[in-house]
Amino acid sequence: MVSWRSLRHRPYFRSALYSIIALACFTFVFSWNKLRAREWMPFPSEVVDETPEVWDVSPAVWEERAEQVKEAFQFAYHAYERHAMPHDELRPVTGGYVDNFNGWGVSMVDGLDTMLLMGLKAEYSRALPEVQKLEFQLAEDKVVPYFETIIRYLGGLLSTYALTKDEVLLQRADELAEKLDPVFSTPSGLPLFGVNPSTGKLEGPEVGILAEVASLQLEYATLAKMTGKQKWQDRVNSVVRVLSQAKVQHTGGMLPIGLNVTDGQPADTHLSAGAQADSAHEYLLKLYLLSGKTDKVNLEMYLRATTHLITNLLYLSPNRNLLYVTDSTHGTPTHVFEHLSCFLPGLLVLGAKTLPLDNLESLGIDLNELASDFGDAGKGYRLLSTYNLKDLHMWAAEGLAQTCYLSYADQPTGLGPDEMQFWTPRSEGFPWMDIVESWRKSGSRGSPPGVGVKSPVRLTRQQRLKGDFKPRDYSLRKTTYLLRPETLESLYLMWRFTGDVRWRVYGWRIFDAIERNAKTQYGYASVRHVEHVATTKLDELPSYFFAETLKYAYLMFRNDDPIPLDQWVLNTEAHPLPIHWTREGNNV
Ligand SMILES: *[C@@H]1O[C@H](CO)[C@@H](O)[C@H](O)[C@H]1NC(C)=O
Repeated sequence: MVSWRSLRHRPYFRSALYSIIALACFTFVFSWNKLRAREWMPFPSEVVDETPEVWDVSPAVWEERAEQVKEAFQFAYHAYERHAMPHDELRPVTGGYVDNFNGWGVSMVDGLDTMLLMGLKAEYSRALPEVQKLEFQLAEDKVVPYFETIIRYLGGLLSTYALTKDEVLLQRADELAEKLDPVFSTPSGLPLFGVNPSTGKLEGPEVGILAEVASLQLEYATLAKMTGKQKWQDRVNSVVRVLSQAKVQHTGGMLPIGLNVTDGQPADTHLSAGAQADSAHEYLLKLYLLSGKTDKVNLEMYLRATTHLITNLLYLSPNRNLLYVTDSTHGTPTHVFEHLSCFLPGLLVLGAKTLPLDNLESLGIDLNELASDFGDAGKGYRLLSTYNLKDLHMWAAEGLAQTCYLSYADQPTGLGPDEMQFWTPRSEGFPWMDIVESWRKSGSRGSPPGVGVKSPVRLTRQQRLKGDFKPRDYSLRKTTYLLRPETLESLYLMWRFTGDVRWRVYGWRIFDAIERNAKTQYGYASVRHVEHVATTKLDELPSYFFAETLKYAYLMFRNDDPIPLDQWVLNTEAHPLPIHWTREGNNV
C-alpha cells in the first residue's frame, strides 16, 4: 500500500502538487482581477451631494472678497516694486529678484491691466515711466523666448493700451513686434523659438512646439487693428493658413504638439490639451470671436479639435466618476491630468455659450463633413453629430471644472497639484463618450456621467503614508502648486456664463487657500507640496500671478462686469483685447 507520507516524498508527485497549487493561484488571481474590474466599473448616474451650506452670501460680502483680492495684489506688487523692479520677478521668500523673461520688468507689464481693473491708479502711474524707458535690449549671448514674450509683454501692452489709450503703450508694442520679427523668417511662416533683438540672431529647433508657434494671432490681429499696419495681419494670416493646411487625418483633426517650421506639417502624433498645446486650441475659438464671428476657418479647426478631444482624450475615473482630460501618443492615453489643462472647461463653456453648437447648419457647417477623410477617426464625428453638441460641450465643461476644483478641495492645503496620475484598472481606461453612450441608450436617467456635485475625498494620514491612492482615484505626479491660474480662470467663466453661484464659491475657497498657504513676508510663493500644511515654499512669484490668477479671482468676486465677454477676448495670459476696436471707446 502506498501511504500518503511516502507519496509525498516521491519527486513526480511533488511537482504535480506544485503545478496544481500554481494553477490554483493563477486562477484565483485572474478571477479576482476580473471581479475587481467588474466592481470598479463606473456607475454613471451616481451623484454624491456635498454637505449643504449657505452659498447665498450677499453682494456686499462678494464686494468685500473682491477687496481682499485687491489687497493681495497690492501687498505682492508693492514688494515687487521695492525689491525687484525693474527686474522681472520678485523672490517672495528671500526678497530678491530674478530676470527670467528678458529682464524688462515682466511682472510690471503683465500686471498693468490688472492694476487698471482694480482702480490702482498710483501703481499704474509709477509703472508708466518704466514702460516709457523700455528698449527691449538683450545681452548678445541670450535670446528672447518668443512665445512667452508675446503673451506676457505684447499682450499686456496691447490690453493696457485698449483700456487707457496711453500712446506710449502702443509705440512700445509696435517696437517690440518689430524687434522680434526675424522669428518669422522660416519657409512656413511659423515663428522660431527665439531671437536676439539686438543682433537678430535666431534660435530654435526645426520642429516647433504647437503652443509656441500658434499663440500669437490674437495679439498680432489686435496690433494690426490698432496700428493700421497690414504687416501684422499678414503674420496672423500665414500662421492660420499653415494650421488649416496641416495634414491632420492621422490625428483625428487635432493638431499634434510637434510642427515642422520648414513645411508646416505635423512632426509627431502627441495630442494634448495641456502643456505645449493648450493655447493653440484656445486661440482657434478666440480668433473666431475676435473676428466678430466671421472667421470660419478658425471655427472649423476649433470644432475639429474639440470633437477629437471629446471622443478620445476625455475619461472617467473608476470610483468617483471624475471627468478628466489626458494626453496621448499614437492614440495611447497616459491618464496624466495636468493643472495646465484646467483652462479647458472655461474654453468649452465659452464656446458652448457663444457658438450655435446645437444648430451648426445655420453656419453651413456639418460635423460629418469636417472629418471627410479621417477614416476611422471619423467615427467620433459621426457619433457627436447625433448629440446636441451644445449640451455635450456643457457637460464636459461642468464635469472637468468640478474635477479641477476637487483637485484642490481633496488636499489638506486646499491647493491643487500641478499633475495627477489617474488610476485605472484597465489600461484603456473608461472613455467618457462610451459611458455617455451607455447612459443615453439606457434612457438618460439622472445627471450625465461625470456631471454633478461631488464631495472632496481627504486621504487619512495612514493612506497617504501607504501611498493608497485608490479612495480618490489618482496619485500626485507633481506635488507643487505654482500659483497657477487655470482653475480660477475656468471657475470665473463657469460663473459668468451659468450664473451658478457654486462656481464662485469654489473660486473663493481657492483664493482663501492661497491666502492661508502661499503668503510670505514679501508676497505669495509657489508651494512645494499641496498635501502638507505648513509646507515649504519655493522662492518664486511668477508674473502670471499678477496678470491672471488675481485678475480672475477679482473679476469673479466683483458684482459688476468690467470686461463683458461679448466685447472682449482674453489672450492666454488673461489680457483683454477688444473685439470692436475704436480709438474712442473701450475705456473701463
Ligand atoms: C521638416 O520638413 C522638411 C521639409 O519637408 C524636411 O526636409 C525635414 O527633414 C523635416 N524636419 C524634421 C526634423 O522632421
